[in-house]
Amino acid sequence: MKGIILAGGTGSRLSPSTNSINKHLLAVYDKPMIYYPLSILMLGGIKEIMIITTAHDRSRFEELLGDGSTLGISLTYHEQVEPNGIPEALIIGEKFIGNDDVTLILGDNIFYGQGFTNILRSAIQSHDHATIFGYRVKDPRRFGVVEFDEQQKVVSLEEKPEDPKSDFAVTGLYIYDNQAVKMAKKLHLSARGELEITDVNKAYLTKDQLKVQLLGRGFAWMDAGTHESLYEASEFVRNIQQRQGFKLACLEEISFYMGYLSKEVLYKKGKSMEKNDYGQYLMEIAGRKHSQQYWDSIERNPVLGLVENE
Ligand code: DAU
Repeated sequence: MKGIILAGGTGSRLSPSTNSINKHLLAVYDKPMIYYPLSILMLGGIKEIMIITTAHDRSRFEELLGDGSTLGISLTYHEQVEPNGIPEALIIGEKFIGNDDVTLILGDNIFYGQGFTNILRSAIQSHDHATIFGYRVKDPRRFGVVEFDEQQKVVSLEEKPEDPKSDFAVTGLYIYDNQAVKMAKKLHLSARGELEITDVNKAYLTKDQLKVQLLGRGFAWMDAGTHESLYEASEFVRNIQQRQGFKLACLEEISFYMGYLSKEVLYKKGKSMEKNDYGQYLMEIAGRKHSQQYWDSIERNPVLGLVENE
């Protein structure tokens, strides 16, 4: 399974903050926005990830995350010349995807909730053709909207409908088999002049190969595309972190629990940033003492470590 993060676009809704910098480099509370979708792919066990971004900011992403080796993953970068639509990520990523399946995540999407890692992993491992995630929202007209029957079988999909058939938005996380690339290449521009990811999902629906996984009320899903939602997302991350004392989307912590980073390396990383809260947090994790039972559980499921405080 390959992973793609789409982090291009104009970010015009966040202007003037985004006039000179890519939206996905802005901070969501205490770390860059791109950390959040990257953490999701890492938690899903995906190690080969392509970040698609603007030509203007590519070098900044490279400076921030490098080739991924310090996190035990592989990161490559590609540019999207114009924001021609989300499915273009599949076309740009064709060579990178090769014959594999692909999980695509939008760079401004933030997911949080107990058990999400397990849901994600089983969706990735289930070898279904396509899995999308539905989430109840107050204003579905802003999103792709999915209508489904009692068996959670998808009945219809619409992009930003005037008159939504359900309150369930399609989140920006898509797990596809290899057909997605061909499907994306066959798309035509929509009325708003973009390739629409909803049309890829519709192509799977026509073949009866689309599954929707609902994320219930215990989950938080946000896109940080407007000033209001960016502020709300920061506030949310701050509240959870302050209350529970562990960080969301701390890439080094995830890498450590996945078994990609040793305790020693984690400690060293923390030490190099010891003057700030992030560095101190890494040092604290590396220094924690746990029972044998705890380490056993980590061995069985490295991600369990992330829910130890729950
Ligand atoms: O967030 C979920 C929603 O994302 C879905 O419900 C919709 O079906 C889907 O179309 C999309 O809607 P948005 O209106 O939120 O898409 P937006 O144009 O804001 O772009 C979402 C992210 O993808 C954002 O981080 C910028 C990036 N992007 C977008 C496009 C169209 C690119 O990097 N390149 C692009 O060409």
